[in-house]
Amino acid sequence: MSHHIALQFEDGVTRFIDALPTETVADAAYRQGVNIPLDCRDGACGTCKCFAESGQFTMGDYIEDALSEDEAAQGFVLTCQMRATSNCVIQVPSSSSVCRTQQASYEAKIREVRQLSPSTISLSIQSDTLNKLAFLPGQYVNLQVPGSTETRAYSFSSLVHGGEVSFLIRNVPGGLMSSYLTGQAKPGEHITLAGPLGSFYLRDIKRPLLMLAGGTGLAPFTTMLEKIAELGSAHPLHLIYGVTNDADLVEIDKLEAFAERIPNFTFSACVAGAESSYPKKGYVTQHIEPAHLHEGNVDIYLCGPPPMVEAVNHFFREKGIQPASFHYEKFSASA
Ligand code: FES
Repeated sequence: MSHHIALQFEDGVTRFIDALPTETVADAAYRQGVNIPLDCRDGACGTCKCFAESGQFTMGDYIEDALSEDEAAQGFVLTCQMRATSNCVIQVPSSSSVCRTQQASYEAKIREVRQLSPSTISLSIQSDTLNKLAFLPGQYVNLQVPGSTETRAYSFSSLVHGGEVSFLIRNVPGGLMSSYLTGQAKPGEHITLAGPLGSFYLRDIKRPLLMLAGGTGLAPFTTMLEKIAELGSAHPLHLIYGVTNDADLVEIDKLEAFAERIPNFTFSACVAGAESSYPKKGYVTQHIEPAHLHEGNVDIYLCGPPPMVEAVNHFFREKGIQPASFHYEKFSASA
């Protein structure tokens, strides 16, 4: 049985390859046309050194000059000596173009466009080819705006089911994609996507998780939660979802369904606007409780517009909060 290996390059491009238990990750990559840095192939030079973000594997023979004990303990690997025994995520310290690979491109058709609120659009696309689209929960793709050469980046808001995948899109008045989706898009129309991209994705869950979402920054979290619902988690998971106006709150029913499916998952939502009649008011930082931080033994994921990401960063600095790991993604809308 082969294992899926996600190779993540410096430029954000991710390529998935399959590795047989009998072959090294480097051999598997070359067999599939990805030329990761390689020289001696013998565990002697260190040229193929990468970082194994997650997964199980065995290492063959190598010398200390190529990979020190400390580096191995931190998670660095020599791909010419590494054999995967589970699916793995590997960071490659080179760009995708240096490795003679590129992001994959897919053709799909629009299945449904739904305006969830004045500020949020749900887009579903479908194609048999999307069954081959592999991505890490939390990643994004570039969608080409139909009728234009321009692309816009959107996080997946679901996993692929039967060749169908969804996105949550902020409705930007006058925005190219927003204008297309609200004015012209029809089911069956063609759309092109390229990716996956991005380093904001769900890592192995080794401790409690705190997820902070702002607006359509909720999208990567609904994908992560779908994955967690499949895999299960022994650790507590809490999501705080913040928006500006009551009408911006979307997908609450979806979050409630996750709370029923995932025993350790809880969430709260809050609205910052002064006019709000929602029970929880204010910014996400006002709803972070000491119990969510587990005295620092917590992995924090944050996705939202730049001011929110900066405000949360500032809040953590001011409070001296140092989580075990902190992953964030800022998105900004193109007008
Ligand atoms: Fe030299 Fe792997 S290529 S150590």
